Amino acid sequence: MSRAPIGVFDSGVGGISVLRHIRTVLPNENLLYVADSKYAPYGNKSPEFIRERAVFLADFLIAQGAKALVVACNTATAAAVETLRERYDLPIIGMEPAVKPAAAATKSGVVGILATVGTLKSAQFAALLESYGQSVTVVTEGCHGLVECIERGELATKETRTLLEGYLQPLLDGRVDTIVLGCTHYPFVRPLIEEIVGNEITLIDTGAAVARQLQKRLAEQDLLADAGKVASVAFWTNNEAVDAEQVIKQLWGDEVKIQQL
Ligand code: DGL
Repeated sequence: MSRAPIGVFDSGVGGISVLRHIRTVLPNENLLYVADSKYAPYGNKSPEFIRERAVFLADFLIAQGAKALVVACNTATAAAVETLRERYDLPIIGMEPAVKPAAAATKSGVVGILATVGTLKSAQFAALLESYGQSVTVVTEGCHGLVECIERGELATKETRTLLEGYLQPLLDGRVDTIVLGCTHYPFVRPLIEEIVGNEITLIDTGAAVARQLQKRLAEQDLLADAGKVASVAFWTNNEAVDAEQVIKQLWGDEVKIQQL
């Protein structure tokens, strides 16, 4: 079982930002990644639709032999992680916007959160704010259209910059000193965000914490792969709109072989 792969999925290519942290923290693990890009963005879909997709993708990854699942998507975690945990008996790691670390880090007392509209509207996000956001002012922005740019591999085009400037301005006006990247696609435009907001503002991404949590869960269940083995990574996508191999290669940072989902 410990040689079995870890299954990771997202609405699209965003979860590759998490996959990169997983590869760093767990270099001996075989990794499977599914990008459900044909159905991206999830951010404007109903929770029911997202749950259906999540079950389909989890079934697929488990059929490939996954020993654990990572829902590398804030939107899908909010909509579907409970359903997945009820349904499958294996470690399932989800993720949520880093409200708690941001509330701990802010000095100005104003925190900005960039996420999908689906995440911001979810009951899970309301509960997060209730638990950890009481002591600070929170400015949220649902970033319509940004995931689509990143799905096309447009990390620094004029369109992407204009969109981001529009979403970041209310945060700057609100005098945030900390910004949470509450969607796994957004770390890929971090350099552009830094250009726009300057270097006085702290950006928080949860990818590394998710990778460490995965490592902890695997260790607890004696599921870690042995050291010293060459680990593999396999990608599946159902993207028909763009050259998926090119985009995934760009985001993963290495040659990839893509299989059709
Ligand atoms: N990457 C996803 C997230 O973390 C979802 C983006 C989308 O499909 O809207 O929320």
